Amino acid sequence: MQNLIAILTLALLATHFTTACQTPTSTSTSRLPSWTLTPTNTTQQFRGLGPVSNDIVWVSGTKGTVLRTNDAGSTWTDVSPHFSLSENASNFEFRDIEAWSANSAVILSIGEGNLSRIYQTRDGGETWKMTFVNQEAAAFYDCMAFEKEIPSHGIARSDPVNGRFRLIETWDSGSHWSILSMNGTLPAALPGEFGFAASGTCIEAAAGRWYIATGGVDPGRIFRSTNPRLGWHLSNSSITGAAAAGVFSVRFRDAKDGIAVGGDFEKPTANKDIASWSCDGGVEWHKAVSFPGGYRSDVAWVPGRKDTAVAVGTSGSDITFDGGRNWTGFGNGTFDAVECINRGVCWASGARGRVAKLVMGDE
Ligand SMILES: *[C@@H]1O[C@H](CO)[C@@H](O)[C@H](O)[C@H]1NC(C)=O
Ligand SMILES: *[C@@H]1O[C@H](CO)[C@@H](O)[C@H](O)[C@H]1NC(C)=O
Ligand SMILES: *[C@@H]1O[C@H](CO)[C@@H](O)[C@H](O)[C@H]1NC(C)=O
Ligand SMILES: *[C@@H]1O[C@H](CO)[C@@H](O)[C@H](O)[C@H]1NC(C)=O
Ligand SMILES: *[C@@H]1O[C@H](CO)[C@@H](O)[C@H](O)[C@H]1NC(C)=O
Ligand SMILES: *[C@@H]1O[C@H](CO)[C@@H](O)[C@H](O)[C@H]1NC(C)=O
Ligand SMILES: *[C@@H]1O[C@H](CO)[C@@H](O)[C@H](O)[C@H]1NC(C)=O
Repeated sequence: MQNLIAILTLALLATHFTTACQTPTSTSTSRLPSWTLTPTNTTQQFRGLGPVSNDIVWVSGTKGTVLRTNDAGSTWTDVSPHFSLSENASNFEFRDIEAWSANSAVILSIGEGNLSRIYQTRDGGETWKMTFVNQEAAAFYDCMAFEKEIPSHGIARSDPVNGRFRLIETWDSGSHWSILSMNGTLPAALPGEFGFAASGTCIEAAAGRWYIATGGVDPGRIFRSTNPRLGWHLSNSSITGAAAAGVFSVRFRDAKDGIAVGGDFEKPTANKDIASWSCDGGVEWHKAVSFPGGYRSDVAWVPGRKDTAVAVGTSGSDITFDGGRNWTGFGNGTFDAVECINRGVCWASGARGRVAKLVMGDE
């Protein structure tokens, strides 16, 4: 009887596995999209990208710069925080932004010691309040993520402190943050392992699950958790890691299907083993069949188009129509971050003030 149950269970598991991992049938291999640049009138680099709707988008980046558009990129308004005379805006680089409306957003600045900070606005960027300032010498904050289902719940992620990735958590949309301090349950890092503050997506929240991407070790690794207070599991990503290489971005469209991208930012066109996909919630990661054209710092699923995702990096952009198995290049302009919102609209941002939009035609 027990054997029978075991066999039945195995059969069920096998069926479930096969169903979950069915190869997507790519329907829309046809037209490739193209980016349209918008006039930001600045040369700052924007690694922080926060689209809210088709019209409202925020970007954040170097020299303490934050811009917002309310008209789909036709015009951009400088809504940067004002720094006191003793604090030079040039020292601040906002590598990540999360925005909920034209009024409400939080930004993360990177750096050693107290340069790692989080600011919050409720009035469209007219005023910003510092709601977190790092006091740990070893910490260096890289990225943050908020849940779609519980938008007030977010986690910001730092490089390791005492051998474990440092995480801070907010339950009120970034007004207050506290360190998740249970040593035994935080993700343990290998020597030399860290995260990339390249696009704000080295931590991901999707369908009630959390993911953390790492590099500096080979291969780059991906941690996952259904409850960050209780513990983390980890997997090899199948993406090659090195001093400047590993997993830069991990994104899930639901509880099962995820894509990870990365590579070596010092070798922008090297593309061996720089992208992988998972269909079991990040337990196993499989190498892509054909890779994007080079190092990619960010990837975003396109909502409403089941197996479509867009990846960007300093050497260009790529699209997949089969959930990350095969990638096709479209455009070679430099970008750091990409986000897609409803109705096949994506935004990308990067160096030299580049912020661009693409609208995919009907499927
Ligand atoms: C662009 O920026 C320059 C220098 O900051 C400024 O003088 C000019 O008015 C801006 N142009 C637009 C269209 O915003
Ligand atoms: C701010 O820093 C920049 C770059 O380090 C420097 O060029 C500038 O003079 C500084 N400004 C002030 C007011 O200290
Ligand atoms: C950051 O550190 C500098 C140098 O130690 C100090 O002068 C400044 O007051 C600190 N700022 C904050 C917000 O902690
Ligand atoms: C976590 O570990 C560090 C170093 O091992 C130790 O100093 C610290 O007290 C620990 N914190 C907690 C909350 O256990
Ligand atoms: C992950 O990769 C490391 C380094 O190659 C290897 O030692 C380890 O066994 C791998 N873990 C799994 C679960 O495959
Ligand atoms: C895409 O990847 C699949 C494996 O999932 C492979 O069988 C297929 O031939 C590839 N398609 C193209 C167009 O390269
Ligand atoms: C990028 O694309 C443009 C337009 O297709 C082309 O003229 C240019 O040579 C390309 N640059 C590189 C570095 O491939």
